[in-house]
Amino acid sequence: MPRKKGSKNKPVEENVEPTVVIPKESKVRTPQLLRGFKDILPTDQVYWEHVRETVNELARKYGFERIDTPLLESTSLFRRSVGDVTDIVEKEMFSFTSMGGDHMSLRPEATASIVRAYLEHGMFNLPQPIKLFYIGPMFRYDRPQSGRYRQFHQFGFEVLGEENPAADAKVILMAYNFFKLMELDVVITVNSIGCLSCRGEFKKALQNYYKTKKNSLCKDCQKRLLKNPLRLLDCKEEECKPFKSDAPQIVDWLCDDCQQHFMRVLELLDDLGVPYMLDSGLVRGLDYYNRTTFEIYMADEVENKERALALGGGGRYDLLAEQLGGRPVAGIGVAPGIERVILKMKEREIEPPIRKRPTILLAQIGAQAKIEAMKLFERLYDEGFNIVENYVKNSLKAQLELAERLGCRFVLILGQKEVLDKTVLIRDMEAGIQEVIDVSKLSSELRKKLGDSEK
Ligand code: HAM
Repeated sequence: MPRKKGSKNKPVEENVEPTVVIPKESKVRTPQLLRGFKDILPTDQVYWEHVRETVNELARKYGFERIDTPLLESTSLFRRSVGDVTDIVEKEMFSFTSMGGDHMSLRPEATASIVRAYLEHGMFNLPQPIKLFYIGPMFRYDRPQSGRYRQFHQFGFEVLGEENPAADAKVILMAYNFFKLMELDVVITVNSIGCLSCRGEFKKALQNYYKTKKNSLCKDCQKRLLKNPLRLLDCKEEECKPFKSDAPQIVDWLCDDCQQHFMRVLELLDDLGVPYMLDSGLVRGLDYYNRTTFEIYMADEVENKERALALGGGGRYDLLAEQLGGRPVAGIGVAPGIERVILKMKEREIEPPIRKRPTILLAQIGAQAKIEAMKLFERLYDEGFNIVENYVKNSLKAQLELAERLGCRFVLILGQKEVLDKTVLIRDMEAGIQEVIDVSKLSSELRKKLGDSEK
């Protein structure tokens, strides 16, 4: 945009195309990542691919179908599911009002959206249970630190329309199997927070116990005492910790049905060989849960779990669909945090499997060879060869170095002479020898050298 002499900022209103202004001052900083946000660089993609492939494999094994829901949802969805008096909704949502006046939020988690989608698309009319899985970014205005981001990724498995405790055990088993495949040794902490009726009685007992300690509790817990007493058990503040050990325990208040459900889940976990630990304080930070709740920790960190990162969490949410105005639908699910999984893999030096390396590099020297190499690359790739191209480096030395770095067995070299003669040089990187081959015989010659398996 042109500017009038003497007026620093005001653009002159002329009917001309706007142009990009490149600031001259050396002090202008290039834009940087927002706090709590992260780029996933190419060097890290091998971990992410390993996670995605493992999740897909487990979904196939256990018959889960993929679902993708929008990143933006109406704010009321999360207020009514995760709960108004939770840290996530009170302090951590990226919420705004659209130009049309609608209140919307970036999703802080996906279970609420899955239940919304289930109801909205009438999935209750299909044979039950419905088994869904997802992978994607979630957003929470958390205090950024290692393993805690404002944009992070979860994958999740959700089973809807099944109240049998076998579904709880199955979902926990799937999560456990995922970590086994990642070579991470984990333990599941488990609890039951009962149903509306037994939890009601328990909440009263909890309020009575904590009432006498009100003045010693942190500010949040003083609020929780009235509005969300279960969360008193989950508080991480130093001043609240000493009261936990003598607090009433939910297991003593479970009704017969909830107790039976919980015992069955634990028996199944025993039978399936899933390592777990009972944790009567595990109430989770989201309000939609009932009965089974659980979290996943590294086995050697679980004893000190106040300071450890949960690698995943989940539980039953049989009342959520009704809370959202739908019909009653039982549900159970789990969602591990992918950044934390990868963090633990790196901490423990667990390498993701190496992807298949290219076996052939196509090198070219000179302008004419460059064009022929482009055509040859298309042909060999389509014939199924594990080949990579190079159009950036021009010197043969640099291209051979690249082939070495990539671990290629053969380099095909195309220069001016080869183009004219309709030949290609094949260089065997291990033996250090090269031979001239007629282009028309190249594919069969390569196949002979590689054998079908290594193509
Ligand atoms: P959640 O416990 O809030 O549960 O989150 C699940 C996992 O997401 C955590 O255990 C952690 O690994 C990861 N996570 C959470 N916040 C962050 C963060 N700020 N940075 C990095 N990772 C994070 C849920 O979201 C429920 N939807 C789980 C569920 C599925 N329940 C039933 N089905």
